Amino acid sequence: RNAKRQTVCRDDINKLNTEFLAIYDSLIPADEEKAKQKKLLTLLEKLVSKEWPDARLHLYGSCANSFDFSKSDIDVCLVMEAANSDKSEVLLKLADILQADNLQNVQALTGARVPIVKLMDPVTGISGDICMNNVLAVVNTKLLRDYAYIDVRLRQLAFIVKHWAKTRGVNETYRGTLSSYAYVLMCINFLQQRRPAILPCLQGMRVTYSVTIDNVECAYFDQVEKLRDFGSRNRESIAQLVWAFFHYWAYCHDYTNDVISVRTGSTLSKRAKDWTRRIGNDRHLICIEDPFELSHDLGRVVDKYSIRVLREEFERAAEILQYDPNPCAKLFEPY
Ligand code: GTP
Ligand code: MG
Repeated sequence: RNAKRQTVCRDDINKLNTEFLAIYDSLIPADEEKAKQKKLLTLLEKLVSKEWPDARLHLYGSCANSFDFSKSDIDVCLVMEAANSDKSEVLLKLADILQADNLQNVQALTGARVPIVKLMDPVTGISGDICMNNVLAVVNTKLLRDYAYIDVRLRQLAFIVKHWAKTRGVNETYRGTLSSYAYVLMCINFLQQRRPAILPCLQGMRVTYSVTIDNVECAYFDQVEKLRDFGSRNRESIAQLVWAFFHYWAYCHDYTNDVISVRTGSTLSKRAKDWTRRIGNDRHLICIEDPFELSHDLGRVVDKYSIRVLREEFERAAEILQYDPNPCAKLFEPY
């Protein structure tokens, strides 16, 4: 049955393709929205540098990795030396400064796993979170953005997958399903493994960009403008890729033994990573290696209940894409 499925694709795939592209277009944020985000960042930079002249602000997460939908919040990282010892104090001070400048809903969450200050700008209507010294997130944001630049099909596929995950309720790490970051890594790895490949493995190429953060070396080929036609030998449409993506996660991925790895552009064995058993809260039921923090499994949030939910959702999506006469309506039906 599985072997047959791999080669079968629907007759009306072109219609489905048009529908997916329309959804993708409708989710892209408008230029004026990106301009407003920039404006807010500039305001925040001005306020921060008055108090801490050596501090820098960086955007990270979806607002900076090109996988953001319209009306997204922004994620900002405040980077300054010597502040690691007392993050809480700095964040509380920052909250005071933002409040004094009339930003709304300002809240310092200093007890959270990742301490942040929340804010809303009444002028642009944009909300945001500011965290501190999370430089690895800034660097993995750049890696995702660089991959997106190489072939537009990554951004299209990831938009459809994220949209599916949000409407089906499987993009909620606090409930044991996967983060947007994890889904984008799954899309990158999937496109690295198409034949012919649609994406290269940037960390397997000549190093043109290298930084070391908290003893983690982050190095890869970042001259992506030279790779713009990398995937052109593969002519698969977005509908074919969405179909094959869900097909892979429903029927082909080896959940017992495999780890997907963007760093190597392939899969690794759980045994080689020593991810075969539960250690603490890490159960490794679906394994997605972080490209830089190699001991970090983005699937660690998944538990024995939510793995079933996830796998049933992958199978549901694969079935719909294979057989449903109106797949788009059904695929994105709220759960
Ligand atoms: P949306 O907010 O859903 O549009 O996507 P996002 O890309 O902002 O996603 P998310 O909130 O999942 O992640 C924000 C950023 O945090 C990512 O882009 C990464 O740079 C960084 N990050 C690093 N490690 C992790 C991790 O283990 N989990 C999550 N969620 N994010 C991580
Ligand atoms: Mg975000």
